[in-house]
Amino acid sequence: MGIWQGEPSGQFPLRGVMGSMPKQSPDRLTIARPDDWHLHLRDGAMMQAVAPHTAAHFGRAIIMPNLVPPVVTGAQAAAYRERIMAALPEDTPFRPLMTCYLTEETDANDLEIAHRDGIITAVKLYPAGATTNSASGVSDFDKVRPVLERMADMGLPLCVHGEVTDPDVDIFDREAVFIDKVLKPIRKKVPDLKVIMEHVTTQNAVDYVRDSRSNLAATITTHHLIINRNHILAGGIKPHYYCLPVAKREKHRIALVQAAISGDKRFFLGTDSAPHTDANKLLPCGCAGCFTAINTLSCLAEVFDAAGKMDKLENFTSLAGPRYYGLEPNDDTVTLIKGDPVSYPSSVETADGPVTVFDPGFPLHWRVQ
Ligand code: DOR
Ligand code: ZN
Repeated sequence: MGIWQGEPSGQFPLRGVMGSMPKQSPDRLTIARPDDWHLHLRDGAMMQAVAPHTAAHFGRAIIMPNLVPPVVTGAQAAAYRERIMAALPEDTPFRPLMTCYLTEETDANDLEIAHRDGIITAVKLYPAGATTNSASGVSDFDKVRPVLERMADMGLPLCVHGEVTDPDVDIFDREAVFIDKVLKPIRKKVPDLKVIMEHVTTQNAVDYVRDSRSNLAATITTHHLIINRNHILAGGIKPHYYCLPVAKREKHRIALVQAAISGDKRFFLGTDSAPHTDANKLLPCGCAGCFTAINTLSCLAEVFDAAGKMDKLENFTSLAGPRYYGLEPNDDTVTLIKGDPVSYPSSVETADGPVTVFDPGFPLHWRVQ
């Protein structure tokens, strides 16, 4: 059963971002195969169940290292990559792009070897305590500066979970405060470091990225383009919309949509699809994460179509990401077709229990051929 009971579907998610001139949309669009620049695949039974859904549509994905224990060394990243490939059909063209989890003990030599050998594509910075399995993250940013300097020298990008963890900072302000208190100083001290601000949720982050000259880009998730904080909290709490960074006010969602549809090459898709079993979501203290791997492309097409910007979808899903990472776009394509509403399962079964699929709250008319 959907989680939008009592809520008239399609009432609010897409307002405020319509194109200035209503256009006749095409009903078919072929684009270079998309990549997902921020993805949680987990491990074991969960990975077996969710990885095929990403591999069905995406060419590559940046794989988050927040396992328990985290993926901190090149050898662990290589072993994790093997496990991911073993969870997929032998002939899959999907390629996981691995990351190492930055800790205050990270060995820059290990990163350098893993980067040189093509094992890792990026390093992930979690402020300690910011989100799921981030306890081993960084508390003292000065301690990791030598590693960040080495990463800048070797051209190894840093993916950043941009939220402060100070309990005195309101949760809705944690991204904006992180930019001022943490990210600006790091980028000033290590200007050559290539940074990706992940899953941006605020106008502040969009402006910061847009105003930067170089070495800064941002990923935007599918769900943050669709929900605002009312969707989580108004008319009853919706645990399946709870994620981190938490969705903000409507004006911020609109800023994200405008960035995504703008064609600006510094904004690209990172779904942050983050599966948790329903048992772990529906707790007095439930986990953060929305599972969007299955229906992301249909959801995005709906958002871009409503804005009259289907012509900018390929940049967001398939071109801007590889460009920033210094990679070629995928050389095959996917075709999206518009028609009667497509249905997706409301949950995916895993050996650990069901995982609820993100419900955009409006009908999806675009399907992947
Ligand atoms: O909502 C989220 N879920 N945000 C994160 O940063 C982590 C992720 C997870 O791993 O569950
Ligand atoms: Zn994430």
